[in-house]
Amino acid sequence: MPITFDEQHRIFKLDTPSFTYALMIYQENYLTHLYCGARIPDTDLSYLIYRGRFSSLSPYNTKVDDPFFSADITPMEYPTNGAGDFRIAALSVRNANGDAVTDIRYVSHKIYDGKPALPGLPATFDRDGKAQTLEIEALDTVTGVKAVLLYTIFEDYPVLARSVRLENTGNAPVVLERAYSACLDLPTMDMDMVHFYGRWNKENTTVRHPLQHGIQSIQSKRGMTGPNHNPFLALAKSSATEETGEVWGMNLVYSGNFAFDVEVDTQGCPRVLMGINPTDFRWHLEPGESFQSPEAVLVYSNTGLGGMSRTFHHFYLDHLCRSQWTKKKRPLLINSWEAAFFDFDDDKLVEFAKEAKELGIEMLVMDDGWFGDRNDDHRALGDWYVNEKKLKGGLSHLIERVNALGVKFGIWYEPEMINPDSDLYRAHPDWAIRAKGREHSISRYQCVLDMTRQDVRDNIFQQMYDVISKNNIEYIKWDCNRHITEAASAVLPPEHQGEFFHRYVLGVYDLMDRITTAFPHILLENCSSGGGRFDPGMLYFSPQIWASDNTDPIERLTIQFGASLCYPIPSLGAHVSANSRASLKTRAAVAMCGTFGYELDPRKLTEEERDIVRKQVADYHKYYDLIHYGDFYRITSPTENPFLCDWQFVSQDKKEVLFTRVVMRHPENMYLPLCLPGLDPEKFYTDEETGKVYSGALLMHGGLDLSSYDFGENGDGTSIVKYFVAK
Ligand code: DGJ
Repeated sequence: MPITFDEQHRIFKLDTPSFTYALMIYQENYLTHLYCGARIPDTDLSYLIYRGRFSSLSPYNTKVDDPFFSADITPMEYPTNGAGDFRIAALSVRNANGDAVTDIRYVSHKIYDGKPALPGLPATFDRDGKAQTLEIEALDTVTGVKAVLLYTIFEDYPVLARSVRLENTGNAPVVLERAYSACLDLPTMDMDMVHFYGRWNKENTTVRHPLQHGIQSIQSKRGMTGPNHNPFLALAKSSATEETGEVWGMNLVYSGNFAFDVEVDTQGCPRVLMGINPTDFRWHLEPGESFQSPEAVLVYSNTGLGGMSRTFHHFYLDHLCRSQWTKKKRPLLINSWEAAFFDFDDDKLVEFAKEAKELGIEMLVMDDGWFGDRNDDHRALGDWYVNEKKLKGGLSHLIERVNALGVKFGIWYEPEMINPDSDLYRAHPDWAIRAKGREHSISRYQCVLDMTRQDVRDNIFQQMYDVISKNNIEYIKWDCNRHITEAASAVLPPEHQGEFFHRYVLGVYDLMDRITTAFPHILLENCSSGGGRFDPGMLYFSPQIWASDNTDPIERLTIQFGASLCYPIPSLGAHVSANSRASLKTRAAVAMCGTFGYELDPRKLTEEERDIVRKQVADYHKYYDLIHYGDFYRITSPTENPFLCDWQFVSQDKKEVLFTRVVMRHPENMYLPLCLPGLDPEKFYTDEETGKVYSGALLMHGGLDLSSYDFGENGDGTSIVKYFVAK
């Protein structure tokens, strides 16, 4: 049994083949944390709760028969506010008396096979009976608030999924002021925080820095996850490297305001909280009502950051992305945005399709500008009917012409947005988010629709349904180009306005669920001005997300490396565009470390370029399985090395290797042999280009021979891509 309960010591152990998580019901039914790390066989781990010595400033419970116990210095499983633990709290409930003292204690538990779905929320799921779940009920006897702590482990991965359901079983209403998804109390601050930050056009710069005493936090208050920070955090032992050492990776399956707070206490022990950002969050719970938190995913690795990433990658493809396209071969597409922006009509799109077909491209995506009166970004969001002045003869006619060429067709939407200059706004001005008595701010000339409202969602769903159901649309790009300000809903009563941000996210999930359920055959790609909403919540619905509006391959190195910390490579939307000084070869080499596609005017390619593109299309097919299902290794990081970036894919059977180097500037050691990780030392690998044979051991420990490559005179984004096959 992977989850066991030792009745004598009152210890729960959750074991996978390489990972153990343990917690304990301590005296007076405190839920204390014991261990999270490499698999251990022992059962009595109770001494692990002692991390410090009781002092006169640590409050204690006189009923506990232990002079060393105080909630203030003990690792806690789901710490609460105001009842003896002064560190950051996962749960704080304001009760009918007006105070926010919260104190939950163990009541009961159950262990069962499988994993429950979380109502209204995306979450990881079981596949082939590989999951087991522990549900612990803990009660605050004064308010009657019950916390149901959910823990699921998966037989095939060192992963723990956690969430909390809060139920008001009392007689009076309460307000949840903090309701994090999970807490992790670790025993040492000899760790670095690893996360990524950015902005529009420059997402996902990886940072690594030592933990410090006090509280450090990464957050979003933008209504969406945003490109500024991502709901991902890893704590890596200071000595851990890319391929060695212990790392705890955490990711929140959520697309709204989030917080990852880390407090290092005076004993040097870090506490990590992950969940909905408590700023602007107040959830009103009447008796009998309940609240479900989003899910936090925790990955343990003792093979460094690389091992953590590979676990996230495969785990998400197996247990999070629910689209039927996740493991089905996806069509190679060309997108009209950078090719034409708003300047297109039906004939131009058909020309694109004709050229694309000739190059081997399989799908044309018509981006922004096909609907309402949309000829620039000033108007028409919300008016999801076809602009027949542009698409003469209508959308069906256009799609028939494109399909007749043997090319599939995809379309762009921005369902959550509304321009003040739109028919929808003129009919329903109160559907745009705005706080009472205030103007709404404008961003990209647009406002955000109040997705907390059923009538708004129904309207947008119906408009989308009318277009999609009548046309042979096989792909949708779901964009989202601004964040939420003046947050309030015209229809929520004042005591529920604090629920606005979370209700917004639930509304988006509801609409996305309705669209993907109505049209399961459609390949959905999320986008938010590039990677502004790149998170596991979105991955649940769409197996790929446009990673950035920046399509320059050199800039993309940092963007894609950062995202690869936790997101699968085949989820990173990446295209070859005309918007770069780097060679077509390098643009493709980098886009191949992602979904791969094109975003340029194919009519403008020279004959020589067309030959190169045809070869790239062939490579896309040749390497598809290796890239989509293989193991990804970051070898030289562009944020640590200003000169070089190296990465590699290795097939699961270790017979195939695809190595890529991009030279950003010339370093002194560019021609040195480079050691390749993750190979089979016993195998013999043939370099397909040169015919040279290396043992796996030589490539791993002596290195790949780079002495004969021409990296050019200057560091201008030269690249090499090498493919090896083992006998
Ligand atoms: C932002 C996206 O990131 C772009 O790819 C493009 O779809 C534009 N929006 C269209 O407005």
